[in-house]
Amino acid sequence: MTTPISIDFAETDLDALAGVEGKVAVLVTSDGKLDPAGRRVNRLTKQAIARLVESDRWEKVKLGQGFTLGFPAGLAAKSLLVVKLDRRPSVDDARKAGASLAKFKGKGALTVCAGATTRIDDLALGLALRAYDFTDHKTADETASEGASIMCSKPDEAREAAKAAMAVAEGVFFTRDLVNEPANVLTTQEFADRLEALKSTGLKVEVLEEAEMEKLGMHSLLGVGLGSESPSKIVVMEWNGGGDEKPLALVGKGVVFDTGGISLKPAGGMEDMTMDMGGAGVVSGVMKALALRGAKANVVGLVGLVENMPDGRAQRPGDVVKSMKGDTIEVINTDAEGRLVLCDVMWYAQERFEPIGMIDLATLTGAIIIGLGHENAGVFSNNDDICKAFLKAADAEGEGAWRMPLGQAYDDMLKSRIADMKNVGGRAAGSITAAQFLQRFVKPETPWIHLDIAGTASVKSDTMLAPKGATGWGVMALDRLVRDGYED
Ligand code: BES
Ligand code: MN
Ligand code: ZN
Repeated sequence: MTTPISIDFAETDLDALAGVEGKVAVLVTSDGKLDPAGRRVNRLTKQAIARLVESDRWEKVKLGQGFTLGFPAGLAAKSLLVVKLDRRPSVDDARKAGASLAKFKGKGALTVCAGATTRIDDLALGLALRAYDFTDHKTADETASEGASIMCSKPDEAREAAKAAMAVAEGVFFTRDLVNEPANVLTTQEFADRLEALKSTGLKVEVLEEAEMEKLGMHSLLGVGLGSESPSKIVVMEWNGGGDEKPLALVGKGVVFDTGGISLKPAGGMEDMTMDMGGAGVVSGVMKALALRGAKANVVGLVGLVENMPDGRAQRPGDVVKSMKGDTIEVINTDAEGRLVLCDVMWYAQERFEPIGMIDLATLTGAIIIGLGHENAGVFSNNDDICKAFLKAADAEGEGAWRMPLGQAYDDMLKSRIADMKNVGGRAAGSITAAQFLQRFVKPETPWIHLDIAGTASVKSDTMLAPKGATGWGVMALDRLVRDGYED
């Protein structure tokens, strides 16, 4: 399991700067101003920083980015990073600077001279998030990452502000670890075990086994798991940090591996389907973050954990299953399994918790990647207020999200000859018909958002705040949505 790198905050110690080993970073504003520590480093290096700042090269450095000077004369440090950042940076620039620091740092020790710069919590968050590295299965890679020390003018304030940010970082790491984990390790049982371990954070955690789901009539979810040796499960995580209000419900698709089932996927790229539990991963990470920072809100997270395998007992294309709601579904394609899992978990969530809002997350369709790429998740909603609040939160956290339409004509594409609906609508508008299928299991009075994160849950190249692999997209946006909209 990945733990965030340790970051400590200290008073600026000018006399120590010459002797600091490892790496050192200083901040320079866009108009070339240095804080006292930066000025001291500039003097020790015989104006190396001033010469850099006056050069053409510095103009090309954007806010939040840095320029490295190697083996600087006058310092014991191995290298010096000069970062362009204003005294009162935007959230985005502060996090970007943190990410630049993480890349510069590598595994060794880092000392940052941050002076009186504001948003040091966001700087620390960017540093922690970008320093994430999933090395659990690298046998040679045993050296632990050394910590970072941030010298600033108000270390006590910075440390306090960074606490909430680090709780969110731990939530993001929990999500990334789950999503990066291969499917032979992260079975439905292992997933449930890791969630049960969250009890230590104060979350209430409960696991529903197949027999119970059977009794509840969840044949849509159970049908997906028929071909797997791993038992299907639903895990319910409750955070009751608010008053007596009904909770906000978060529902996640947790397909620990998606072969497609009898509608088998082609071999090329199938290994990526180890991240088909991304929605459940985000729900779990948000719940952990809420617990760690002691959120004053009631939120319940539910994840449907199944494995979609082909087998003699697997469900067939053409099978008809009955959902917990009572509606029957003709399974045209066993590879459209996410919606079959979610519809039962969503119905259960509404029946049991009567939530004031429901947000489901799922790596639901390849079509959303065709439509929006890896920059934005697809957002579908039956309610403008909750949708706007979410889009605002996502924007504030720098997590791309784009609203997509819903409508009767799309719903009509799900008509089945022999059942109440079929599980696919055809090639056209594949992400929308998937959302439309889910909406059939949303009560009209429940404000609901569906997030299709197939393109954003994991990426093949580094992003600003994440190395390639699992991103943890959505943890920060949902944490903010709760903070801004559901806490008093
Ligand atoms: N898990 C996939 C969607 C997916 C594809 C996620 C690529 C991440 C990357 C989902 O279960 C699936 O197979 N969807 C099908 C639906 C189709 C059969 C209607 C798809 O997108 O092809
Ligand atoms: Mn599938
Ligand atoms: Zn899937």
